[in-house]
Amino acid sequence: MSIDINEAWDELKRRVSECQKCGLCKKRNKTVFGEGPTDCRVVIVGEGPGADEDATGKPFVGKAGQLLTSILEDGGKIPRNTLYITNTVKCRPPENRNPTKEEAQACSEFLEAQLLLLHPDIVVTLGNIPTQFLLKTTQGITSLRGTWVNWRGIKLFPMFHPSYLLRNESRAPGSPKYLTWQDVKALKAEIDKLQGADTL
Ligand code: URA
Ligand code: URA
Repeated sequence: MSIDINEAWDELKRRVSECQKCGLCKKRNKTVFGEGPTDCRVVIVGEGPGADEDATGKPFVGKAGQLLTSILEDGGKIPRNTLYITNTVKCRPPENRNPTKEEAQACSEFLEAQLLLLHPDIVVTLGNIPTQFLLKTTQGITSLRGTWVNWRGIKLFPMFHPSYLLRNESRAPGSPKYLTWQDVKALKAEIDKLQGADTL
């Protein structure tokens, strides 16, 4: 990032930390802006912070986060700290309910600005919430996961949300976990392809 972009990034962080654009600000402890290198190729977008994220201010640090790390690192051989990780909404929805469309909309300028400043090659959306929000579709994650979708010239790759996998433990062929292990390998292959193209 250049100096100007770094300034824009810090300003964005400050605005998120003070945001009162929707009701989620009333019960939050910490906003969760996101975490990772700003010179990343891949951005992961989840739903919103849970209890552990709300307490620490960091994305995907609870049980779902631990599973996400394992999917990336054990399944995909992709070090988690090479990716930028953020969420559709930056404040915790009470009782871990899904964020409403209105909350996602109120928060969307932050995700939009993050994606503009990071300009990754790949955006991975986890579950229905970020996938349907960014793609403006009602099509479900079960049919979209594992497919490459062009989103404003960026390769968008939907995968199941790790919380969904925590509720579906089976690893049998065709199960959500099995499919996710295939998806993360496809993601790694695409990252390798991009890195190979760099050295040509
Ligand atoms: N689930 C999410 O979608 N995001 C987090 O940061 C944690 C759990
Ligand atoms: N529903 C979701 O929102 N996400 C999943 O990953 C699966 C079902």
